[in-house]
Amino acid sequence: MAAAAIEFQGVTKVYKRLFSDEKIAALSDVSFQAAPGEVCAFLGPNGAGKTTSISILMGFFFADSGEIRVLGYPPGDVRAKAQIGFLPENFAFYKYLTAPKLLRLHMALAGRNPAGSAGLIAEMLRKVKLTGYENLKIGKYSRGMVQRIGIAQALLCDPQLVILDEPTSGLDPAGRREVLQILAGLKAEGKTVFLSSHILPEVEQICDRVVIIDRGKLVRAGRLEDMLASGNRVEIAADRVPDGFEQSPAGVGATVERGAHGVRILVEAARKRETVETLWAAGCDVTAMNPLRSTLEELFLKEVDHQ
Ligand SMILES: Nc1ncnc2c1ncn2[C@@H]1O[C@H](COP(=O)(O)OP(=O)(O)OP(=O)(O)O)[C@@H](O)[C@H]1O
Ligand SMILES: [Mg+2]
Repeated sequence: MAAAAIEFQGVTKVYKRLFSDEKIAALSDVSFQAAPGEVCAFLGPNGAGKTTSISILMGFFFADSGEIRVLGYPPGDVRAKAQIGFLPENFAFYKYLTAPKLLRLHMALAGRNPAGSAGLIAEMLRKVKLTGYENLKIGKYSRGMVQRIGIAQALLCDPQLVILDEPTSGLDPAGRREVLQILAGLKAEGKTVFLSSHILPEVEQICDRVVIIDRGKLVRAGRLEDMLASGNRVEIAADRVPDGFEQSPAGVGATVERGAHGVRILVEAARKRETVETLWAAGCDVTAMNPLRSTLEELFLKEVDHQ
């Protein structure tokens, strides 16, 4: 992997309650990387430690131990922060501002001169489908509109790295699809996107890399293609399969379902040729063969259940 855009190495974080001995191990020895230009999905059940990791990444609080690098800098370094667009999990904007005023404020907070930014702000509002609402105060926005203006502020200053904690939360199906299109556009521009989400079928459409954590521990990290390919199986439909096939060398490890309309055999992709040759040699008629690709959701549930 080229120099990582995000790097976690052995990161541990324990929350301690004030005036009590109670400790919560939010992250235990978590290591992963995301490369520049990748869309990296950060997945895990509720309470897994995603928001904690993102908060450490942004420099909001410190890890107890471990090495963290963001765009090559330690978390919180202004040289990295100048290139990061961030959407927090639970954010609240000043409710008496309109969207253009809020975006101008965020430009100023990012150290940019908001004078002459009307064109950029109009473009951002168009991107998140808030054109026409320029005079409405944010306090009167619907939940989904608030989420959209949050995304607009994250993308405002043309960041190299976009970190989004559940960007599609509160959005309707069309809004979620639009966010995915925006993220796909960022990827096409060569930006790095790091997002947490619970909506796995959508994440699967756009992400290159997946990091799964559960109860503070890394469960799995790697390229999506590699992860889904490792569960690759092939479905073979055949007629006249002899009774003893399941016990033959080709049948061992295969799932064989005998129905009224023929036999369905599920086998590891690497064994498809051997299986079909055995079936042919036994005089069977192979009527179809289709790859069965596992989904990110199946992989996630398997990995998290396994834990
Ligand atoms: N400020 C805090 N003080 C104490 N414990 C905390 C604090 N923030 C989070 N935790 C605990 O740390 C663990 C991880 O929480 P975190 O918010 O990082 O999970 P998450 O993966 O973002 O979950 P979700 O999907 O629900 O957003 C949880 O057990 C949570 O209760
Ligand atoms: Mg969270």
